Amino acid sequence: MKHGILLVLSACVVSVAASAMSVKSPDGCIEVSVSGEAPRLMYSVDVDGSALVAPSRLGVVMPRWTLGSDVSVSHSYSDYSGEWTQPWGENRHIVERYNEMAVNMSAGGAVFVVRFRVFDDGMAFRYEWSLPGFDVLAVTDELTEFNMASRCDTWSIPGNFETYELQYRHLPIDSVDNANTPFTLATAGGIYASIHEAALYDYPEMVLRRDGAGVLKADLAPLPDGVKAYVPGRFVTPWRTIQIARSAVGLINSAMILNLNEPSKITDTSWIRPQKYIGIWWGMHLGTQTWTMGPRHGATTENAVKYIDFAAANNIQGVLFEGWNQGWENWGGNQHFDYVKAYDDFDMDFVARYARDRGIELWAHNETGGNIPEYEAAIDSAFAYYRSLGIHTLKTGYAGGFKGGYLHHSQYGVQHYQRVVEIAAGYQLMVDAHEPIKETGIRRTWPNMMTREGARGMEWNAWSAGNTADYLCTLPFVRLLSGPMDYTPGIFDIDYSRAKADKERLQWNGPNADCCIKITLARQIANWVIIYSPLQMAADQIENYEGHPAFRFFRDFNADCDWSQALQGEIGQYIVVARRAAGRYFVGAGTDLHARTLSLPLDFLEPDMTYEAVIYADDTSSPDPEAITITSRTVTAADTLQIVMAPSGGQAITLIPQT
Ligand code: NOJ
Ligand code: CA
Repeated sequence: MKHGILLVLSACVVSVAASAMSVKSPDGCIEVSVSGEAPRLMYSVDVDGSALVAPSRLGVVMPRWTLGSDVSVSHSYSDYSGEWTQPWGENRHIVERYNEMAVNMSAGGAVFVVRFRVFDDGMAFRYEWSLPGFDVLAVTDELTEFNMASRCDTWSIPGNFETYELQYRHLPIDSVDNANTPFTLATAGGIYASIHEAALYDYPEMVLRRDGAGVLKADLAPLPDGVKAYVPGRFVTPWRTIQIARSAVGLINSAMILNLNEPSKITDTSWIRPQKYIGIWWGMHLGTQTWTMGPRHGATTENAVKYIDFAAANNIQGVLFEGWNQGWENWGGNQHFDYVKAYDDFDMDFVARYARDRGIELWAHNETGGNIPEYEAAIDSAFAYYRSLGIHTLKTGYAGGFKGGYLHHSQYGVQHYQRVVEIAAGYQLMVDAHEPIKETGIRRTWPNMMTREGARGMEWNAWSAGNTADYLCTLPFVRLLSGPMDYTPGIFDIDYSRAKADKERLQWNGPNADCCIKITLARQIANWVIIYSPLQMAADQIENYEGHPAFRFFRDFNADCDWSQALQGEIGQYIVVARRAAGRYFVGAGTDLHARTLSLPLDFLEPDMTYEAVIYADDTSSPDPEAITITSRTVTAADTLQIVMAPSGGQAITLIPQT
């Protein structure tokens, strides 16, 4: 290693006058200031005149390059105000408004910039450099700190470079040694904030780790040789972001992460369509069906026909079949999957034709087991095959360690996940990634990147202690701030009663499985609204939906919303979300382990309209989590509904305009 490190102002003798460099949000409430003297350049953030982030270090370490002593420092301002429309999303129209400050350091022909953007709902910065003469540089560390000015409450999962499928911790900030992002916090002064990143490309993910000085600092997922990233001499890092709001739901209603991404690179988006889907899936997690071929094989032609017929009869657009392709015997072994060869009892040509004739979207499923080299070698021919079958939707999976010692969230992983999105776009495939890299808003630029897992989803209820109502009341304020999640909600058979009737078939359930979903049926339904996903699954086996009156909700539901608002909520306690799609409104409410009653003014509805409200509520007179009452009444925007929820319960409402 050559001597020296690059600090943002390493070895430079310029001192920066603190007052000279600051930028405010358009509404003037958030102010970002840059201070310090070389080599320690710092930023700080004030909200409403009080410190949120105390002076915190900036910089990137690249051992091969050091700024000389002839550095000149300058800064420039700009601003932007505009609106844009997305092909799909929680909200179709997005307002984008920010003030920008670029701090430029140049020496010879080299330029290093820290670019700040301040929005009314938060702030962000990134590093940009242009270093002539360097084809490639090793990044060995990032110095970015997040030194919160006051002791605050935090909600996060641990920092882990392989998985996000972890439990939340609610901790005072001093007790957090490491955390993944989004890292959400609340100050005693009533400010809510969340640290994350935006536009993550060609770079490892950032987690937060407490450094020797006791400050939370960026820590990047390493490559096998310990280097964090190999980057070109001209590069732009992901944005480091802090969303800021005065209420917990204000964080959810922020579009800042999307606004920090570039406009769509896909010009014809007509093939990108949100949809509801069902699939051969839950049975494998319960252990009553198998991915491999055998007597309990799930993805058979016969089952496929049943699922396609059910979708066609129930206003569901897509069907997923896991275990359709050969190779599942190798899962957890050599991880060799065949991405085009179906098992003998799954007639792909017939199934694709059968689905097409009924107007149903067939999904392709690619579990890779983490065998990236083999998947990348097969990907073009596989995607061409799916396209020839009329398939537009692809679920990927990375359940297994990556070959070669690479971590899922390293630069190698980030590049792979992105490659899949871009190749998929070329074959008009929408992507739903499981065991993914975190969402950082790239759906604005690549709107075929629809949804992803990236947290403990429904599957954990089948073979572990499962997800509690507390967990589900935290999810919207942490993981979901980053973007859509394929949680796969909607298990109606809460105590797996059908499966339990034949208990010896439950082979795959781990020792921790409780054989029970830990929330009520009404809350399962509410999750279809609360947990936003443009590809929204009804995850149970269809026999548990057939004839069930509550399944009307999913039939009436529309995954293609154009307006959304988180209306009420506190982190880990409760949440109420409303969405509108094609003139209908859908409301989802959920509580933690405590029973709760909320008043919900319907003032978000169109004035001068009447709606039929179909209300799916916990039957609080019964201890049975499946007990539900379904009632209907006429309402207007002037009405207020009482949302009565059982412990671990919820409520879902469909509001249908009356002509
Ligand atoms: C884990 C995914 O989260 C799940 O949805 C999928 O069924 C299995 N891997 C198999 O691919
Ligand atoms: Ca998973």
